[in-house]
Amino acid sequence: MTYLRWVFFACFVCSSLGIQTLSQSCDPSDLLALKEFAGNLTNESIITSWSNNSFCCQWDGVVCGKEGNESVATRVAMLILPKKGLKGIISRSLGRLDKLKLLDLSCNHFEGVLPAELSNLKQLQVLDLSHNMLRGRVSPVLFGLKMIQSLNVSSNSFSGDLMELGGFPNLLVFNVSNNSLTGMLNSQIWSASNGTEILDLSMNHFVGNLEGLDNCSSSLKELHADVNSLSGHLPGSLYSFPSLQQLSLSENYFSGQLSKELSKLTSLNYLIIFGNHFSGELPNVFGNLTNLEFFIANSNFFSGPLPLSLALCSKLRVLDLRNNSLTGSIDLNFTGLPSLGILLLGSNRFSGPLPNSLADCHQLKILSLAKNGFAGQVPETFAKLKSLLFLSLSNNSFVDLSKALSVLQQCKNLTTLILTKNFIGEEIPKIVSGFESLMVLGIGYCGLKGHIPVWLSSCKKLHVLDLAWNHLDGRIPPWIGLMENLFYLDLSNNSLIGEIPINLTELKSLISTNCCSSNLTSAAGIPLFVKRTRSSNGLQYKQASSFPPSISLSNNMINGTIPPEVGRWKQLHVLDLSRNNISGTMPNSISEMQNLEYLDLSSNDLIGSIPKSFDKLTFLSKFSVAYNHLHGEIPTGGQFDTFPASSFEGNLGLCREIDFPCGSSIVPKPVIPQQLTELESPFAFDWKVVMIGYGTGIIIGLVLGYIFCTRKYEWFDKIYEMRPNRIEIKRGR
Ligand SMILES: *[C@@H]1O[C@H](CO)[C@@H](O)[C@H](O)[C@H]1NC(C)=O
Ligand SMILES: *[C@@H]1O[C@H](CO)[C@@H](O)[C@H](O)[C@H]1NC(C)=O
Ligand SMILES: *[C@@H]1O[C@H](CO)[C@@H](O)[C@H](O)[C@H]1NC(C)=O
Ligand SMILES: *[C@@H]1O[C@H](CO)[C@@H](O)[C@H](O)[C@H]1NC(C)=O
Ligand SMILES: *[C@@H]1O[C@H](CO)[C@@H](O)[C@H](O)[C@H]1NC(C)=O
Ligand SMILES: *[C@@H]1O[C@H](CO)[C@@H](O)[C@H](O)[C@H]1NC(C)=O
Ligand SMILES: *[C@@H]1O[C@H](CO)[C@@H](O)[C@H](O)[C@H]1NC(C)=O
Ligand SMILES: *[C@@H]1O[C@H](CO)[C@@H](O)[C@H](O)[C@H]1NC(C)=O
Ligand SMILES: *[C@@H]1O[C@H](CO)[C@@H](O)[C@H](O)[C@H]1NC(C)=O
Ligand SMILES: *[C@@H]1O[C@H](CO)[C@@H](O)[C@H](O)[C@H]1NC(C)=O
Ligand SMILES: *[C@@H]1O[C@H](CO)[C@@H](O)[C@H](O)[C@H]1NC(C)=O
Ligand SMILES: *[C@@H]1O[C@H](CO)[C@@H](O)[C@H](O)[C@H]1NC(C)=O
Repeated sequence: MTYLRWVFFACFVCSSLGIQTLSQSCDPSDLLALKEFAGNLTNESIITSWSNNSFCCQWDGVVCGKEGNESVATRVAMLILPKKGLKGIISRSLGRLDKLKLLDLSCNHFEGVLPAELSNLKQLQVLDLSHNMLRGRVSPVLFGLKMIQSLNVSSNSFSGDLMELGGFPNLLVFNVSNNSLTGMLNSQIWSASNGTEILDLSMNHFVGNLEGLDNCSSSLKELHADVNSLSGHLPGSLYSFPSLQQLSLSENYFSGQLSKELSKLTSLNYLIIFGNHFSGELPNVFGNLTNLEFFIANSNFFSGPLPLSLALCSKLRVLDLRNNSLTGSIDLNFTGLPSLGILLLGSNRFSGPLPNSLADCHQLKILSLAKNGFAGQVPETFAKLKSLLFLSLSNNSFVDLSKALSVLQQCKNLTTLILTKNFIGEEIPKIVSGFESLMVLGIGYCGLKGHIPVWLSSCKKLHVLDLAWNHLDGRIPPWIGLMENLFYLDLSNNSLIGEIPINLTELKSLISTNCCSSNLTSAAGIPLFVKRTRSSNGLQYKQASSFPPSISLSNNMINGTIPPEVGRWKQLHVLDLSRNNISGTMPNSISEMQNLEYLDLSSNDLIGSIPKSFDKLTFLSKFSVAYNHLHGEIPTGGQFDTFPASSFEGNLGLCREIDFPCGSSIVPKPVIPQQLTELESPFAFDWKVVMIGYGTGIIIGLVLGYIFCTRKYEWFDKIYEMRPNRIEIKRGR
């Protein structure tokens, strides 16, 4: 039941009690109780309108009602104070407001334990204490509230079990999510009510299974138990709730198969079971689930084919089955899914061609098919995916990059395109247009031939470019330096020649902070990451991508010197020039890259000594100049005392007291080109698309963009985070 409905309900109470706002004065004992309540608030959270008058029925948030034959309303019937910034304890005096029917103190900063006196509120029908910092046991208080209809104590720190929970004949909403409650779920909990519609147990520490659920009311509409430690098979009784609209059990240890009886849940709107141990085939019974909008079952052990009946769920908006063991080709008739916005099938064992009909999903914004066995060409029809923002096809066996790009360039809104690990050995197309919106492009591990194509220079919004592990030859084009937003460039493991172009040091986003990189995610329309943890009491928006600003040119045939202008790259975190033919000395200006965490210049032809100023690189955690022709003393102090001998080996004349004594004759190890093992590129895999379970109908809340306490609606994709599985930059070590 929505808050709004409760307000209507409340108004119904008002009128039925003959509530008047123009009462002369309020009941003296109620007045006293309210003053005491206010007195227990800390000074800074005084409710200003609770002035020094005794007309408490006119106070902000106070609603009075008439009792019996009284002609005026004098008794406090409702106290509605959500989001008032109130701090302090909840006064025991509230227990004396014995005519109270609605108490809403949600979204404040109340702390301490619940006063036992609250259980005297025999007429209380609505209690919302959610989003505070209350602790201690909750059930002894709840026990007394016989008339309660809606109870929300979510997002506090309540602990203990719910064993003493009594029966509540009228309970419709029971929300204890996001606390630290413990104990077994048992029939006592399930039968706590007769008529419950919303039951939210998410984000606690409950154990046990769902046996005994048949004691629960048959009018159950929402059952949420995400992020607990529940296990076992789903009991047959679960499928006997015809009104069930939302079922979310994500991030538990449930196992076994989804029963064919699922088809009985014809009202089902949200089926959210990701992060469990479910296995077996998905039952092909989705034809009757015509209301299904969100089916999120990633990270289980489902096998077998994609049920064809899914195509009959015409309202489906999100289908997320990534990270299972599904097989076969995708034969769904997507024409029946006009509302599909997010389709994630990555990290399975699908094979065959891409279905043409997918192009009929005009709303499709996010599509990941990475890490499967798909083959063939990107269908012509994909040009119709005009809403597409994010596409990952990486790690499959697609062919014809030229065709793929000429099709996808027509998806004008595409911001992220990951094609890594396909198109093996093909020529990189020389002429491509479009991609004006592209911010992230990964075509690595493809063994592509040719030069770095000049059409990339018209992708003006590019933030991230990964062309590593190809056979690209020719020079690094100077126009790359003009890409204002580019902060991650990986050209490693190719056959590039020539010098590092000075223009590369002009990359704006590596020079100054008030540029672009931190806006990647939001700007790209790539969904933000909303994480709810047990410890934090709010939403966390993780901005930007997790890519560190990087330049990697490792393992090419680049020669010339390191231009002193690299010192401009004040925002750079990773600089890898290893395994090239770079000569000359290391410029002092490297020490101006104050954010550098990783600097690898190994296996080049550098001469001279390591500039003393390098000890200013206080964030440096990985450093190597091994296998060059350096000499002189290794700087001491700063991070330098932490670098191992292997950072310096293979140089003729480098010395440091502990391992390379000065003056001693060190026989350098022969320069053996280190074996290059194909390491996982961040782009090689299914991009991690995480929907962190945010308990309590909260997944649903978020899915709808319902932001707590502010009640704001936003596009549902805010729940998804997109970032690569690996963010560590490791190359051939
Ligand atoms: C309390 O829980 C109910 C049911 O889950 C929900 O409708 C209501 O919005 C919640 N209150 C707040 C302040 O979030
Ligand atoms: C709350 O108010 C009552 C009455 O004024 C007082 O006795 C009690 O000490 C107060 N408690 C706190 C924690 O301020
Ligand atoms: C809070 O108010 C009381 C009395 O109104 C006063 O004595 C006390 O100094 C105030 N404390 C703070 C921190 O303002
Ligand atoms: C409130 O009223 C009482 C008497 O009615 C008076 O003594 C007191 O000073 C008033 N306090 C304020 C803050 O006005
Ligand atoms: C109201 O009812 C009470 C008993 O319930 C009675 O004693 C009282 O006289 C009544 N008052 C009026 C104004 O009717
Ligand atoms: C539950 O409610 C239904 C209808 O509201 C009623 O017929 C039934 O007797 C109730 N059961 C219990 C155990 O209270
Ligand atoms: C779907 O529903 C119809 C009637 O509502 C029923 O006859 C049919 O058996 C159901 N299908 C499945 C697979 O349960
Ligand atoms: C796919 O479904 C649409 C209607 O949703 C239908 O018109 C079309 O014929 C179907 N295509 C195939 C190949 O079954
Ligand atoms: C493409 O993006 C623009 C700007 O974000 C937006 O206004 C437009 O609706 C999008 N087009 C489609 C088909 O989604
Ligand atoms: C590269 O830099 C040089 C010197 O600053 C400049 O003349 C040239 O136009 C730049 N080239 C590009 C493509 O920006
Ligand atoms: C660098 O390599 C290019 C191409 O192989 C060559 O033309 C140039 O002379 C080399 N420069 C130096 C300084 O070795
Ligand atoms: C980055 O985002 C912030 C806040 O949304 C905005 O104020 C700023 O202008 C953005 N910067 C760029 C370069 O888009």
